[in-house]
Amino acid sequence: MARARLAAGAGIGLRAPHHEELVRRRPPLALVEVHSENFFGEGGMPLAALERAAALYPVSLHGVGLSLGSADPLDERHLARLDSLVRRFEPALVSEHLAWSSIDGRHANELLPLPFTPEAIAHVAARIARVQDRLRRRILVENISTYLEFDERAMPESEFVAQVARRSGCGLLLDVNNIHVNSVNHGFDPIGYLDAIDPACVAEYHLAGHEPWELGLADTLSRRVAPEVWSLFGAALERIGPRPTVVEWDLDIPALDVLLDEASKAGALLAASARTVAA
Ligand SMILES: [Fe+2]
Repeated sequence: MARARLAAGAGIGLRAPHHEELVRRRPPLALVEVHSENFFGEGGMPLAALERAAALYPVSLHGVGLSLGSADPLDERHLARLDSLVRRFEPALVSEHLAWSSIDGRHANELLPLPFTPEAIAHVAARIARVQDRLRRRILVENISTYLEFDERAMPESEFVAQVARRSGCGLLLDVNNIHVNSVNHGFDPIGYLDAIDPACVAEYHLAGHEPWELGLADTLSRRVAPEVWSLFGAALERIGPRPTVVEWDLDIPALDVLLDEASKAGALLAASARTVAA
């Protein structure tokens, strides 16, 4: 199931409630993205469902459990399962989060932030390089939403993200909603963030919804994309250019048509950006 070069169009995060309807209706989408760990089991329904979707769309495997930034050794069992999924589906994209979620073998349900220091860059970049060697392909890492900052922070988040990509040779999955959420929570300029990123490293965008909470914004992936995030996406397209873009929705999952509507808005912006680049 080898894939041709992925078009810079819009897709959706495919979750269980929509598998059947998507395959039946076959709406036009540039890609579908699934959480890798949901397909680690042998056989059964999920793999069969993914086979059906993969016959219709390019697939992106998006991981949440590799704990790239952890001080624990990389989980070889997890990597072996991911490797076998990659061999089976030959996905267009494979990504993980620039975060950690385990310590001393205990796993948290959250994606936790790394300190923005040269030591953390060296640590996580070496681990990303090992994962890429193991999978024999480049992976993308995604910027996460955060609600705290470390005192030992030596650089802005954007520089940290940019340097991790440069040092490890990985690509970036820029989550535009996470940049907006962090810019509100930590008081930085989101346009300056985009300007610090090398466009050549960016291989995918994420769009999603957030909600207000007492300390700022929470990246809940439970709503439509906010107007501020659409406008930041427009700024990213101007500075970085069009890339495959996935609309994510993980909580209070709505009807498939709502996701398709968000994806079609993203697709229109991507197409307009591609016309500008070509002109
Ligand atoms: Fe994301």
